[in-house]
Amino acid sequence: ASSYPFHGAHQQGILTPAQRSSVFVAFDATAASRAELQDLFKELTTQARFLATGGTPTDLGPGADESDSGVVGPQVHADGLTVTMSVGASLFDERFGLASAKPAKLTTMKDFPNDTLDRSVCDGDILLQLCADNTDTVVHALRTLTTSTRGAMQPRWRQDGFVSPPRPSGTPRNLMGFKDGTANPKTADTKLMEQLTWVEGGSNGEPAWADGGSYHVVRQIRMLVEFWDRVDLREQENMIGRRRDTGAPQTGTAEFDTPDYVHDSEGTSIRLDAHIRLANPRSAVTASSQFLRRPYNYDNGIDVNGNLDQGLIFAAFNQDLERQFIAVQTRLIDEPLVDYIVPFGGGYFFALPGVKDSSDWYGSGML
Ligand code: HEM
Repeated sequence: ASSYPFHGAHQQGILTPAQRSSVFVAFDATAASRAELQDLFKELTTQARFLATGGTPTDLGPGADESDSGVVGPQVHADGLTVTMSVGASLFDERFGLASAKPAKLTTMKDFPNDTLDRSVCDGDILLQLCADNTDTVVHALRTLTTSTRGAMQPRWRQDGFVSPPRPSGTPRNLMGFKDGTANPKTADTKLMEQLTWVEGGSNGEPAWADGGSYHVVRQIRMLVEFWDRVDLREQENMIGRRRDTGAPQTGTAEFDTPDYVHDSEGTSIRLDAHIRLANPRSAVTASSQFLRRPYNYDNGIDVNGNLDQGLIFAAFNQDLERQFIAVQTRLIDEPLVDYIVPFGGGYFFALPGVKDSSDWYGSGML
């Protein structure tokens, strides 16, 4: 069973390869004061540290064993759990006196032209992204974290997700049947992550405390899967710009071949409005808009009309929300794929810097 370090300059669950099961839960802070908010963040740190490390619940102190749900048995295993804690723009309103600490680019997510946002499943003061190898571990972590913090935050919206195993190998597929993640920036490239993922405190107008954090974008995007499944395979591939079977760009033969946007006139080509081409034109000026995606599939059963309710939890981490996610989403406005997807929820959050050591806690530099 795997476990990921809880302490460090950055939080876990960002560069961590996506585990199979996840839940995204946004909360409204109901803490009555800044002191109570501090207590909440400290409590979340204590619980998250324990859950992501594993042990017997008594590790938390006398009496704690009686309060554990027992859902994963008397011994809690890390089971690949990562807890990632982010905060929304609303936390920086007048309630807690945090206005001057707000990350420079953090705003409330606005509707893009093709969005159908339901505000009851958008935004929130706090976002917890819990990911693990097994669903019961995610559910246990969520129960532990909510039970111990009921007085100070209340769930606002929730979306469960899963990653498919590689089929047949390599990159997992999303529910449109395409490999998803092929062109992601390499998380092992530390220098690249400094350029694309991590905020540098004190630069670019960012407060010093934000150093090592990252803008965390979550978009719940329904896929009109039954409609999509009736679309001709070639047409599907033209919309994405890649082959569905291998994930290769339409101008190549293997998944990791570089898409050729130059020799269009010579026959095989990728449409100008293909998803990958709009998202990443691969020009010198757009290179800095790349960012790390960490998506999950969701299956929410059926809607009131009996249609399958499936889609993508698009999750991404950005050094600069405007330069990266917003620039890319703006280029994707009116892409052909919009006829088959309905973005309906999510929000912009800021993944806090890492918890440095056993005496540190989430947001200590901010609060
Ligand atoms: C690439 C599907 C939403 C940004 C891809 C790929 C697929 C895909 C199949 C190619 C494989 C890969 O490189 O990962 C989808 C679907 C979406 C969706 C089905 C919605 C349900 C979004 C959104 C954004 C986005 C909302 C950002 C605003 C990107 C980027 C790439 C990509 C940046 C990589 C392009 C490259 O560097 O070649 N997407 N995507 N996608 N997508 Fe999406």
